[in-house]
Amino acid sequence: MDTANRSGVLRSPEPTRCSGDQRMSEVDARQAPDVVGTVPDPGLRDLAGAVVTPPGLVLTGPANASVAKEAAAETFARAWSLPYEPRRERTIAGVFASGDMLHVAVHQGEGDLRLYGRYSGETPFFYHPGVSMLRIRQLHRGERDRMLALVGDVAGAIILDATAGLCSDAAVWSYAAGLQGRCVATEASPAIALVVAAALQTYHSGLPELDRALRRIDLRCARWQDYKTACASTGSAGLTASRLVDIVYVDPMFTAREALASPGIAPLRPHALATTMTRADLEQMASLARRAVIVKDAWPGLLLDELGIYPGRGGRQSTMYGVLRLD
Ligand SMILES: C[S@@+](CC[C@H](N)C(=O)[O-])C[C@H]1O[C@@H](n2cnc3c(N)ncnc32)[C@H](O)[C@@H]1O
Repeated sequence: MDTANRSGVLRSPEPTRCSGDQRMSEVDARQAPDVVGTVPDPGLRDLAGAVVTPPGLVLTGPANASVAKEAAAETFARAWSLPYEPRRERTIAGVFASGDMLHVAVHQGEGDLRLYGRYSGETPFFYHPGVSMLRIRQLHRGERDRMLALVGDVAGAIILDATAGLCSDAAVWSYAAGLQGRCVATEASPAIALVVAAALQTYHSGLPELDRALRRIDLRCARWQDYKTACASTGSAGLTASRLVDIVYVDPMFTAREALASPGIAPLRPHALATTMTRADLEQMASLARRAVIVKDAWPGLLLDELGIYPGRGGRQSTMYGVLRLD
């Protein structure tokens, strides 16, 4: 599947499967060549590797920025092909008032963007690792993760996280897939994808295992529905096969209750593509995966009911997963 290079070609090596303890230790991982984690050139990319400029978005510097910080913001804008708007001591409302832009992204520091929407209130959206920090810490201690336990060992596997959001789940998949595997994530909202893509390359959590997992996520600004066509149109090896990845994971849920229960994800909501998932979507996902499609839902699992897939084990938890096994 796709190891994208900057010429926009998607390569498609067959995934190698490691089992049990074959996953490299962190020490090994540090020494091994990072076959899937080369730091890409800056820029938000679509599935074909082309640069995406979020429509109606301008980038500016932080309030009362020093000359150096303004310069850093301008450099970032140039590197990421974004229109730059000097801050000139203005408030965010003042920047919005100067044009008809839909989004203002404030460059706080290296890869750290605060996203404001013209119609989405004063709370900015920005990247944070959320629960992925705790989950990866637990995995590193050898503890079990409920999502990963649904499909067994994924070391060396290729996972498509169809609905990236903050890449909190993608970080866990990326960690578990390890250096020989890969997590590709698609995010349909260009503004969200920009903020998260910038952070994935630079965010320092204080947990090296998490940072390495973040660097290896291949985040693309795209609808997951375009994944197969985009791969096919590149003419990459292996894409004539009908099944392209090992696992497709999707977290489409955006209920009001979930937003309340997860305040960390609430600022993402106004910028997100409102979406639902149908049986036809599930079938399309199944046509992309070799091993399984995993759907995340909130208790009591109404979406899983609609899709006709049964929750994985885990009892009555606020988060539920449905698994469609294909192997
Ligand atoms: C509930 S959030 C996912 C949160 C994510 N699991 C995480 O760990 O942060 C759903 C995300 O999917 C995106 N989305 C919705 N429909 C999509 C589609 N067809 N293709 C790709 N992304 C989509 C939304 O914009 C939103 O950011």
